[in-house]
Amino acid sequence: MTRIASRVSQLHGEGALAVYSRAKELERAGRSIIHLELGEPDFHPAAPVVDALRNAVAAGLDRYCSTQGVPALREAIADYLRRTRRLDVAAEQVLVAPGCKMALSLAMMALIEPGDEVLYPDPGFPIYPSFTRGLGATAVPFGLDEKNQFQPDVDEIGAKITPRTRVLIFNSPNNPTGTVFSAAALEKLAALAQKHDLWILSDEIYARILFEGQYQSIRSLPGMAERTIIIDGFSKSFAMTGWRLGYAVAPLHVVEAMDLLVLNTFTCAAEFTQVAAIEALRDSTSAVEAMVEEYRKRRALFVAGLNRISGFRCQPPQGAFYAWVNTEETGLSAEDVQKILLEEAGVAGIAGAAFGPGGKNYLRFSLVSAQNLLEEALERLQRVSLHWRAAVSRR
Ligand SMILES: Cc1ncc(COP(=O)(O)O)c(C=O)c1O
Repeated sequence: MTRIASRVSQLHGEGALAVYSRAKELERAGRSIIHLELGEPDFHPAAPVVDALRNAVAAGLDRYCSTQGVPALREAIADYLRRTRRLDVAAEQVLVAPGCKMALSLAMMALIEPGDEVLYPDPGFPIYPSFTRGLGATAVPFGLDEKNQFQPDVDEIGAKITPRTRVLIFNSPNNPTGTVFSAAALEKLAALAQKHDLWILSDEIYARILFEGQYQSIRSLPGMAERTIIIDGFSKSFAMTGWRLGYAVAPLHVVEAMDLLVLNTFTCAAEFTQVAAIEALRDSTSAVEAMVEEYRKRRALFVAGLNRISGFRCQPPQGAFYAWVNTEETGLSAEDVQKILLEEAGVAGIAGAAFGPGGKNYLRFSLVSAQNLLEEALERLQRVSLHWRAAVSRR
């Protein structure tokens, strides 16, 4: 039989989708399911953004366009990052791609050689190790542990650096833990990157969904603009998942390399979505603020409720829209808890091992359902917790 290239066997999928398929199957069989498994906002883009898209298509902006992204959007992104992250970015340093994941994979293709080592967070977004391996490199996890408030242990990371280490990837706020890396951690990571001449891939897709303080990008630290690639996009902050629009901010020679990869693969992101994205960045209806406010309320309600369920323990996330729940005290595996919740309670969450071995005793719930549904989910969880309540009380 004609063969499939071996790099494909190094890739793996995303656990959330398997749970989603089963949840959908149960729904088709008439069951009521509360969906807390996917990282997809239940909001839609603001009306002016949709209007801008419609107008752009009507105006005929449906042709091939600039590989790097239309200049007006790149200018708007540079301005947006100046306003919201106090970053000094030039439009030439921005490259637009269909989705944050695509921007991420272009950056990884541009920077990673077979045999390189790439440090990535565990638990973390599963695509980091998957795509690293697909490129013939070695994925080296570093822990984000509860005993450390899910902050990185920079000494541990330092001890894992070898002459082959080339890239350090992280995501702050982190999916799934909700951790915002502290200023001290960022400074230490920057010092490590400079000492060992590493690239930093800073996935800032959740930077706007922040519950306290102001966002600080590692790129803003002295000497870091030349070795940091920011990955961001419109899926989460602007609820535009299906629009497939993301971007990277990188030093010019990296942008040039990524641009050549664009030309060799997808040619360009659709111009009409890019034009509408300028309107999203303008945010004339303050939709982002309203959305974050709603996530803040959901976080307060759901985290407090989870902590009242015996066997569950959850720290409030500092950013993003996930609750990361320790289930160790239930005495059951997180996979068993996931199954009981879905099959018996009709609540879909994901066992944490989908985010790496560090997620073994955790479940991730996405706060992407309305408050009344979250309340209903808590009641259902409380009801099925009888499966482990007796065991917890015997401890
Ligand atoms: C950390 C992280 N990076 C990237 C992505 C993918 O973003 P996009 O949908 O824009 O490709 C996600 C989506 O879940 C994510 O959680």
